[in-house]
Amino acid sequence: MSRPNLTTQPQWQALQQHFSQIGRQHLRELFAADPKRGEQLTAEGVGLYLDYSKQRVNAETLRLLRELAESCDLQQHIAAMFSGDKINTTEQRAVLHVALRAPAGEQILVDGHDVVPDVHAVLDSMVAFAEQVRSGAWTGHTGKRIRNVISIGIGGSDLGPVMAYEALRDYSQRDMTFRFVSNVDGTDFAEATRDLDAAETLFIVCSKTFTTLETLSNAHAARSWCLQTLGDDQAIAKHFVAVSTNAAEVSKFGIDTAHMFGFWDWVGGRYSMDASVGLSTVLAIGPDRFREMLAGFHAMDQHFRQTPWENNLPVLMGLLGIWNNNFLDAATVAVLPYEQYLKRFPAYLQQLTMESNGKHVTLDGAEVDYATGPIYWGEPGTNGQHSFYQLIHQGTRIVPCDFIGFGQPLNPLPAQHGGDQHDLLMANLIAQGEALAFGKSAQEVRAEGTAESLVPHRTFDGNRPSSTILAAKLTPHALGTLIALYEHSVFVQGVIWNIDSFDQWGVELGKQLAKTTIAELIAKDEPELNHDSSTNTLIRRYRHLRDG
Ligand code: F6P
Repeated sequence: MSRPNLTTQPQWQALQQHFSQIGRQHLRELFAADPKRGEQLTAEGVGLYLDYSKQRVNAETLRLLRELAESCDLQQHIAAMFSGDKINTTEQRAVLHVALRAPAGEQILVDGHDVVPDVHAVLDSMVAFAEQVRSGAWTGHTGKRIRNVISIGIGGSDLGPVMAYEALRDYSQRDMTFRFVSNVDGTDFAEATRDLDAAETLFIVCSKTFTTLETLSNAHAARSWCLQTLGDDQAIAKHFVAVSTNAAEVSKFGIDTAHMFGFWDWVGGRYSMDASVGLSTVLAIGPDRFREMLAGFHAMDQHFRQTPWENNLPVLMGLLGIWNNNFLDAATVAVLPYEQYLKRFPAYLQQLTMESNGKHVTLDGAEVDYATGPIYWGEPGTNGQHSFYQLIHQGTRIVPCDFIGFGQPLNPLPAQHGGDQHDLLMANLIAQGEALAFGKSAQEVRAEGTAESLVPHRTFDGNRPSSTILAAKLTPHALGTLIALYEHSVFVQGVIWNIDSFDQWGVELGKQLAKTTIAELIAKDEPELNHDSSTNTLIRRYRHLRDG
């Protein structure tokens, strides 16, 4: 559906006008003007509490943002996604990660075919396989029990599984080892396998297309590594399974398609961790916990579909992101989980958000004249505090932050200095948001007796926006809700920016050029090079360094 340019829409212009009025207002003033702001600018749903009162918005900003969303037909777009319309228009595909967590009995049609029974059939086969491996009923070629699982994949076929494994490690089967190999750098594979016995190792080759160079290179390395010890081609059947949509390539590689867990072209790679791409997750945490995680995703899906926008968590997060990105001109978002188990969450979100919304043309192919997806990055707190937070507090750029924390620790440690270590962790989370918002004025710094020459250095302007997301405990369910929260807020932003959040043509060029370059690197004789002078010189220099 063709749409007028976003920046010419009256709702966009109303926000620009509004920004010229409140854009300079300090959070100190906003809080002073409304003593209940910290209670009111909050929303709660499916176990997540969102405090966005430290964002530089007021009730009018939110009203105008909702109007903008309405003028972009957000509700219709949500309905279109959930009903299987081909909203990924550049690839003519439905976008149905929500079907992966739909309960049995629900009906979601793609080209007239109900996909929910298919989803559950694959889920059941993943569960049956995981039970066999976890119980020891599935043995390796020599009869030894499988103790190690190595998942080979990259991008969407890796980041979700790694993140989920790390996030839910507390729930994992501790007598099994789980590792993930993604990089084509041989070090990744070598380090993952160096201390393992091939007879006890199962490889999951995870690739939607089953043509990804890195994954296939590593899968071939794994095969050689296995055969080196086990000696026999027959071993492959007991030590390799595949996760893919491409049965032909799977069998070409030598994996029996009876040991292939499928998914569908309506699941984007970066939205696939709750499809069969989650096989390593089921193996690690077991079927019940995996289903709990799916239920968490589904709870957020329902919340997104049904909750009025005033309290709709993904809609609010999406709209606040638009405000920060397009009106406050903030180019990045820092995601700061105060939970060590979420250490790979920012990396996971980088693909989810940036591969989805890193686009420069609209659905109609017109160049946008507004900023689209911001740069996502982050590290767990409190580590980040001793590294990059300085720039967030006192640098020249605005970096909106998402703080994520939990009420109950998974590993409570005894008190060392009063309250337990979890209280200390959460005290830091809460204090960071406060410091960013309110800062410390020159007057306050002087009142502390600071030498005049140091006053500018010790002054914090504040007025730096952040949101805080709290949940009771990091459970599989809570993880599902959290991921779906970001998935849907990315969707909301993509709808407003009028871009295709579900393709990724931008990663193709580098892949194509690498094919030419590899031929030039491995050519026996000095190849004739026709690149630019930098690329030509780098190729020659590399060959020289390699060959001595
Ligand atoms: O690098 C781009 C990409 O196409 C991602 O979108 C995808 O998740 C990843 O490669 C891996 O692709 P596949 O699962 O097909 O191996």
